Amino acid sequence: MNSIRPLLAFKRSFFVVGFWLASSSVAVFGQADSRGKQLYTNCVSCHMPDGNGSALLEAPAINNLSEKYIVEQLKKFKDSIRGAHPDDVTGLRMLPMAQTMVTEDDMKAVAAYIVTLKSSPKESTIEGGDAAKGQVLYATCLACHQANGVGNDLLNSPSLIHQYDWYQLDQLKKFKAGIRGANPKDITGAQMRPMAMTLIDEQAMKDVVAYIQTLSQ
Ligand code: HEC
Ligand code: HEC
Repeated sequence: MNSIRPLLAFKRSFFVVGFWLASSSVAVFGQADSRGKQLYTNCVSCHMPDGNGSALLEAPAINNLSEKYIVEQLKKFKDSIRGAHPDDVTGLRMLPMAQTMVTEDDMKAVAAYIVTLKSSPKESTIEGGDAAKGQVLYATCLACHQANGVGNDLLNSPSLIHQYDWYQLDQLKKFKAGIRGANPKDITGAQMRPMAMTLIDEQAMKDVVAYIQTLSQ
């Protein structure tokens, strides 16, 4: 009896502390949600309220990406490590938008909001890609982007599914030409650049993109 009482008291205080921790972290996440949603109002004109982007504005879907990747890309745009090349027409459109986020916490908050948006398969727009040939080429890609295309945060490689084919073709061309990923400070871009170089011509890029599209189905 005597030994049980202190144990009960301990259990009770443990419960109280546990409850306090749980409720305070809920409050912090709740704040991040509304801050993220508010910051996202700066993004809707191009990436749309649902995060599906717009072919007309050449803005990619972003609702298929991981929180970590989104934050890393926003940092790079903000620091002119991505999107600053004079020939990067679409990157130059995104670069000033990243300035609307002042701190890394802002970037984390907006990313946390974006990942709550649901992604979906995109219609193919590119003609002449051979998915069977692309599957062979994709053997070079799966170490980082995985067989099912969902990417791997540990390797900083983004998901390739539920993304537009025109965006992916454009990015592969930019990596190969050194318009994306060639800035000496772009460590993750430097991981991807040599991979784009394995694709010998535009036809090879179309083929691999056609195969990537099949992963979304
Ligand atoms: C004026 C239109 C426009 C606005 C507004 C805009 N973006 Fe973008 N965004 C783009 C374009 C265009 C690209 C593609 C850049 C490229 O081709 O490299 C892009 C790319 C991105 C990417 C990289 C996607 C990827 O797959 O690598 C992220 C993340 C992103 N935007 C997030 C945001 C967020 C968050 C906001 C709001 C703070 C925002 N964007 C506002 C046009 C816009
Ligand atoms: C060594 C790991 C690695 C391999 C292998 C690899 N990638 Fe990547 N890929 C990356 C990383 C890392 C990024 C993000 C680059 C950045 O931060 O800008 C990326 C980005 C991309 C993007 C841009 C996605 C976006 O949302 O903007 C495309 C498209 C892509 N890769 C396609 C491919 C294809 C196709 C192959 C095979 C030919 C391939 N990758 C092989 C690591 C890799």
